[in-house]
Amino acid sequence: MGSELIQIIVANQPGLPGAPHSSSGAAGETANFAAWGLVNERITTNGACGAGSRPGPANAEQPSETVATAGTLKTFYIETFGCQMNVHDSEKVQGVLMARGMTPVENHQDADLVLYNTCSIREKAARKVFSRLGVFRKGRSGAPKVIGVLGCVAQQEGERFFERAPQVSLVCGSASYSKLAELLDQLETGKQRVTGLALDTEECFETGMTRRDNPFRAYLTIIEGCDQRCSFCVVPMTRGPERSRPSDKILAEARRLVDQGYTEIQLLGQIVNAWHDPSPARLSFAELLSRVAEVPGIRRVRFTTSHPRYFTSDIVQAIDANPNLCDQIHLPLQSGSTTVLARMLRGYTREEYLEKIHCIRKARRAISLSTDIIVGFCGETGEDFEQTLSLIKEVGYDQVFSFKYSPRPNTLAEGSRDPMAEEEKGRRLTELQELQRQIQVRRNQALLGETFEVLVEGYQARSGQAVGRSTTNRVINFPGSPEDVGRYLTVKVTSAGPNSLVGARAEKGSRV
Ligand code: 5AD
Repeated sequence: MGSELIQIIVANQPGLPGAPHSSSGAAGETANFAAWGLVNERITTNGACGAGSRPGPANAEQPSETVATAGTLKTFYIETFGCQMNVHDSEKVQGVLMARGMTPVENHQDADLVLYNTCSIREKAARKVFSRLGVFRKGRSGAPKVIGVLGCVAQQEGERFFERAPQVSLVCGSASYSKLAELLDQLETGKQRVTGLALDTEECFETGMTRRDNPFRAYLTIIEGCDQRCSFCVVPMTRGPERSRPSDKILAEARRLVDQGYTEIQLLGQIVNAWHDPSPARLSFAELLSRVAEVPGIRRVRFTTSHPRYFTSDIVQAIDANPNLCDQIHLPLQSGSTTVLARMLRGYTREEYLEKIHCIRKARRAISLSTDIIVGFCGETGEDFEQTLSLIKEVGYDQVFSFKYSPRPNTLAEGSRDPMAEEEKGRRLTELQELQRQIQVRRNQALLGETFEVLVEGYQARSGQAVGRSTTNRVINFPGSPEDVGRYLTVKVTSAGPNSLVGARAEKGSRV
């Protein structure tokens, strides 16, 4: 499983690219994002209008009492928690709402419809939505006409959500988003509570319109759901079975994105490299990468999240052959101990993982590596944990997203009789993060004097600093101007901290 996690994004707020949120402390980078204040609204209309909507009525409850109907919902506000998949789902949901004539607003007080797109990857993430909902006690004046919950917590809690939060009238998981417009119609015409909770879909969520929030990097879904059964992970239960989009649809969307002005595309999937082409073209994942990179006008292609089990050498060959494929790979390890990996049902050993890393390290360009790690999984011994630390040292990642194991409902590991005390998990997490901090200091220091091409994603008037991102996904701050935003510039690294780099312009850039 695994997608990088990002900070909470208020989807209607401009200027918040999907920055990885890491408990390993990339705080400097996320702080920059929040301060950018970019003009970034892009509404895009896709040709494949409504292709994914499924026939048949959505599941809706009959009103149990006579109450006023929601009436026409004119405005909406959506807040997103969790991974990039969620961020992009919200972009598509916004497109659906705008296609039915609704207008996005900047805060929940002005909205007829308030939606929370939720994350349940860990207990802490899942709790967030309930604290947000506390603001809207049932019957309180000023509450929106309709409050809806989307995403993984919605799917996980299902109908129970209405008991825990009676102010909610819509609960819809990601596998049912194609029914969202229909569910809203039902609320407008008098239904009090509606749900979209079916998981047995074979289709992806195709929208006629997508409201992309990031002006530089366009997310493009290639595969939805997850068929892995990693024993710690809730995602297969919340996002439904794996379903790949056909290559022609993906390539058509990539071409449309170029027409709309994007030069950077990020292909998304819970397990992006499990993608297989359901169309007669039968492209492999590596071939798809090359085809997207060859679309005229594309300058950068990223993809996330890869699973080590499906990480094959042809992906590295594709990166070698296409300079537009970014030299950056996120390859979640989870644990450096083969014993723990087996208990996690990850499908690879420590040695097999290291072979993949070796293959990546042999690439022509130095590929930047990041990973996800869970500490304190049930039964993780001191020796197991030492093996994770030694693997981290051996690989030398540029970034590590590390988490304390959090038991999740309906997972195989949920009821394990071998839990670890929170205190010990915390101790291990701190030790791992300190090790990684030292590694990052060393790796970033080694970049002093090097030049990078960056795509400038923001400018901070207060400090006069522009913020750019390299193909290796490194954030570099440098003295710049508002006009730099959206340009590709060459920047030389002048100083380095554990989480970001500082640089200076090395030559004049060209507008994208
Ligand atoms: N507890 C802690 N971390 C988890 N992750 C997934 N499930 C859990 C869990 N139950 C982490 C994994 C994954 C990342 C997105 O979140 O490291 O790759």
